[in-house]
Amino acid sequence: MVSRVIPVDAFDLVIFGGTGDLAKRKILPGLYRRFQAGQMTENSRIIGAARADLNEDSFRALVAEAIEEFVPKDRQDSKIVAQFLEKIGYVSIDATGEGGWGKLKDLMRDGVVRAFYFSVAPSLFGDIAERLHLHEIADAQSRIVVEKPFGRDLASAKALNAVLAAHFTEAQIYRIDHYLGKETVQNLMAVRFANILFEPLWKAEYVDHVQITVAETVGVDGRGAYYDKSGAMRDMVQNHMMQLLCLIAMEPPYHFDPDAVRDEKLKVIRALDPVKPEHIVRGQYLAGGGEGSYVEHSEDPSSKTESYIALKVNVSNWRWQGTPFYLRTGKRLRARASEIAITFKQPPHSIFDDAKGWLENVLVIRLQPNEGMNLMVMIKEPGPGGMRLMQVPLDMAFADALGVDAEDVPDAYERLIMDVIRGNQTLFMRGDEVEAAWAWTDPLIEGWEARGDKPQGYDAGSSGPEDALMLMHRDGRRWREIKG
Ligand code: BG6
Repeated sequence: MVSRVIPVDAFDLVIFGGTGDLAKRKILPGLYRRFQAGQMTENSRIIGAARADLNEDSFRALVAEAIEEFVPKDRQDSKIVAQFLEKIGYVSIDATGEGGWGKLKDLMRDGVVRAFYFSVAPSLFGDIAERLHLHEIADAQSRIVVEKPFGRDLASAKALNAVLAAHFTEAQIYRIDHYLGKETVQNLMAVRFANILFEPLWKAEYVDHVQITVAETVGVDGRGAYYDKSGAMRDMVQNHMMQLLCLIAMEPPYHFDPDAVRDEKLKVIRALDPVKPEHIVRGQYLAGGGEGSYVEHSEDPSSKTESYIALKVNVSNWRWQGTPFYLRTGKRLRARASEIAITFKQPPHSIFDDAKGWLENVLVIRLQPNEGMNLMVMIKEPGPGGMRLMQVPLDMAFADALGVDAEDVPDAYERLIMDVIRGNQTLFMRGDEVEAAWAWTDPLIEGWEARGDKPQGYDAGSSGPEDALMLMHRDGRRWREIKG
């Protein structure tokens, strides 16, 4: 099945931090893929803006290298790369001074969408926003895109929202959470709200518990300085996992409309109970598999930063009271595997002697790898051995089911950047959502800091710390196996 590509309006996209890591890994290769797919029109342009003293040609060379390194080899086409490079410009700019802004202004065209991607440290957001405004480079239709980390607590997130709000309206601000751009994450909404099958069962009465796992094999390598001030809670839970939880727990919005969806997500965040200390397990990876331990990557040999966290979370509202949400995420675990598993309750009465204790339906939504869905159902074991039951998956791997080559499923960034140009904010976080997420996160972090809690060591390549197993065992439940 060939997916439909609808070209977006012509645009000028300025990437501040155009020579940085995110631009090279994700933004520029993603734009190339959209150009190749025919979604970025001929009349669109991308302008790198960074402090480096490059000219157009040297920046184009950098873009070509990024494509070569980060686009799959069989999707690189030299003719298309050459056409794409023609769309690229560059301005050397001083975010905190005046150099380069006049040139940028001259480059801007009327009659096309203007978008400004702030792929820079959040401490520069205010300076850039102010200069875009002062030099009249941004107009009332312009959009700005900002990345995480969006603050490191409620106070800093509020301050960032305030500096942006000084020059842009909320409708112009696109806060990226790249998890919302993942194909399966959006499918979660389709599955819930376009099928009658699940929704009647989607509540505490029928759902025993929900597990959300984001397991990574990578360590913090090279990002120690950032990560040590962040930890798994700030890096993954406050944003990505919170968004996943919201999409599962939220009420049906009245329409698939940016504010309708975001209003419902906000209600979920506000309904989260504070998490009890005994429902938080923090871990830190030990050396193993030829790689050093977490503290070896940290600048602080006694660092108490967690590279793993598991939480039991309660959504205090009518729909979910009594159904715990267990979240876990960590680095250097046994496999890269992200999934959401919804375990339904057992039937009220079993008529089968053989099956006591395990009549269990589980809906598994796999985010990565092998995106897809799996519904575990009970059937009769084949053969003449009487009525014996077994659990089998109704498996739908999206790539197989839809005949799509996994390489052609757009990356989260590709989709999100196209949404910016289309002016669709559904998959971006609103300022009040981010603040509500911090308001829930802050007391948890303050709590463990005040108690002086240390993370428990766990072996690299394992499933995480022992205490995380206990978190579920105590409730008579267990984590699903982490499998790639
Ligand atoms: C980022 C985090 O936001 O998400 C990283 O800062 C993490 O620490 C990454 O590795 C995971 O993203 P993905 O798309 O690879 O699951």
